[in-house]
Amino acid sequence: MTVIELQAATKSYPGGVHALRGVDLRVDRGELLAIVGPSGSGKSTLLNLIGTLDRPTSGTVRVAGHDVSALSDSRLSALRARHIGFVFQHFHLNPGRDAVDNVADGLLYAGVPLKERRAQARLALDRVRLGHRLAHRPNELSGGEKQRVAIARALVGEPDLLLADEPTGALDTASGELVMELVRECHAAGTTICVITHDNEIAGSLPRRIRFRDGAVVSDSRSGEAAS
Ligand SMILES: Nc1ncnc2c1ncn2[C@@H]1O[C@H](COP(=O)(O)OP(=O)(O)O)[C@@H](O)[C@H]1O
Ligand SMILES: [Mg+2]
Repeated sequence: MTVIELQAATKSYPGGVHALRGVDLRVDRGELLAIVGPSGSGKSTLLNLIGTLDRPTSGTVRVAGHDVSALSDSRLSALRARHIGFVFQHFHLNPGRDAVDNVADGLLYAGVPLKERRAQARLALDRVRLGHRLAHRPNELSGGEKQRVAIARALVGEPDLLLADEPTGALDTASGELVMELVRECHAAGTTICVITHDNEIAGSLPRRIRFRDGAVVSDSRSGEAAS
């Protein structure tokens, strides 16, 4: 079953910036893929389209069967709340809230009562090995711990699709490895995952790699296959 489908998707910004120049891409349920390419090649723009945070300038983007251009902002928010979890390079945690409440916020738009949100947040923090850091605020956590809080927040709503934009980009090697271990666990549990990475070793270890250059896909390879 296809979870993500882009057909001739473009994205241009005012001033003549063509961030995506016509992308065709299909991702099936349960895939784990790396998106790689130089800085400025359009990787984050692509992930924002897949995550329905943005709409294409032309072409189509379908997520879980929905044409993103045809949905209103409130329908897109509902689609994201039910299906998609996000992780970013710089964590995007709320500095004034502890780990439990940062993660509980991942369920804000799912209409879950606060007490239940916090109970689920504690379970999600256990899952990322942070059961001992529940009441810590972001400034009391290491970079790797912050990213695990962000992963717990992304996963607490049990999304079908996890999108990570350079999740290990700000971390030391050991913390990055733990983050990737969590990503693999999540994939093994059935989640479809797209990871943008600059790290060739990480990209090479994932089952599928999409390589970007100048807003276009230049190769799409799967483990055990030559690049096409
Ligand atoms: N909101 C924006 N407004 C104008 N230009 C943008 C915007 N977002 C990205 N761009 C431009 O689009 C291109 C692709 O950016 P991006 O997708 O962030 O690349 P990457 O993630 O591969 O580094 C770059 O030239 C960038 O400057
Ligand atoms: Mg980027």
